[in-house]
Amino acid sequence: MKSYSIALIPGDGIGPDVTAAAWSVLQTAAKHAGLALAGTEFPWSCKFYRDSGRMMPEDGIETLRGFDAILLGAVGWPAEVPDSVSLHGLLLPIRKAFVQYANIRPHRLLPGVTGPLRAENFDILCIRENTEGEYSGAGGRVHQGTLDEVAVETSIFTRAGVERILRFGFEQARARRGRLASVTKSNAQKYSMVFWDEITRKLAAEYPDVAVTSYHVDALAARMIMAPETLDVVVASNLFGDILTDIGAAIQGGLGYAASANINPDRSAPSMFEPVHGSAPDIAHLGIANPIATIWSGAMMLEHLGETATAGRIMKAVEATTARGIGTTPGKDRTEAITAAVIAALN
Ligand code: IPM
Ligand code: MN
Repeated sequence: MKSYSIALIPGDGIGPDVTAAAWSVLQTAAKHAGLALAGTEFPWSCKFYRDSGRMMPEDGIETLRGFDAILLGAVGWPAEVPDSVSLHGLLLPIRKAFVQYANIRPHRLLPGVTGPLRAENFDILCIRENTEGEYSGAGGRVHQGTLDEVAVETSIFTRAGVERILRFGFEQARARRGRLASVTKSNAQKYSMVFWDEITRKLAAEYPDVAVTSYHVDALAARMIMAPETLDVVVASNLFGDILTDIGAAIQGGLGYAASANINPDRSAPSMFEPVHGSAPDIAHLGIANPIATIWSGAMMLEHLGETATAGRIMKAVEATTARGIGTTPGKDRTEAITAAVIAALN
């Protein structure tokens, strides 16, 4: 029997609820397919921080390295730990340490889900650079607390980093509808973003079958709302991709449907799968979090592991569920009811 070892990091807030939901769907699908998914749960979270002074143990990264993949719920409990501490102690170091440089986020409407737009037939795949750029963490503060205080935070764009994410975008476009939108702000940022545009043009010569267009991020943001059906694959820097994928989540009906995969394409370390939404403190403990984004992320995990047919069956079950109007209205169906409906559709 084929078997995979999965590290589970439920995290904070609604994270444990949606992770448990996705895990039970994954287990059902795996059983049907004759696969073994062995989960090991890690309690790393803001609660863990309160008890230990760290978001994960010192050897946390080394512990995770041995797994085939990581499924993560949500990180952050700002009432007790500042987000800048919790995220830099768990989520962001994993993305960087495991060179998960491609953050893939699909944006399309599931059947039965009504988005805020008139447009319905869009299918966008956002590819977000996930290890450098505006999230490099290079900077500092001097003269803290005085009137002379200075804060510097420098974006870092390397040729290797930009080239590999653009190449990934071209490859994805080639495998889909052959259209790539490369996103910058090179009219205002004349070093890093001009550099990105140059590399886009250089690679375009290698992919004559892909129609690539460079957009400024402001224009692309508007296009995602006004004409999303004109977009196929979108590739953007870390921060631009972060913002654009919240627009993507919004137009697909909300964060409850926004899945994501932090991929290490070289497979030199595990990849990590997580919903785009956070810990949602306002609805934590109410049992009404929508698990669909996490279930979808779980399907992306199986796909990454090579279990494409099983991943497809999970997505079919999710679609059958939303088509029946289950999990399509915020707060109407409980997390458990949505999960049970997906499992019933699988069965
Ligand atoms: C996301 C989140 C994170 C990010 C935060 C929580 C650091 O917004 O995954 O989109 O900005 O990457
Ligand atoms: Mn975000």
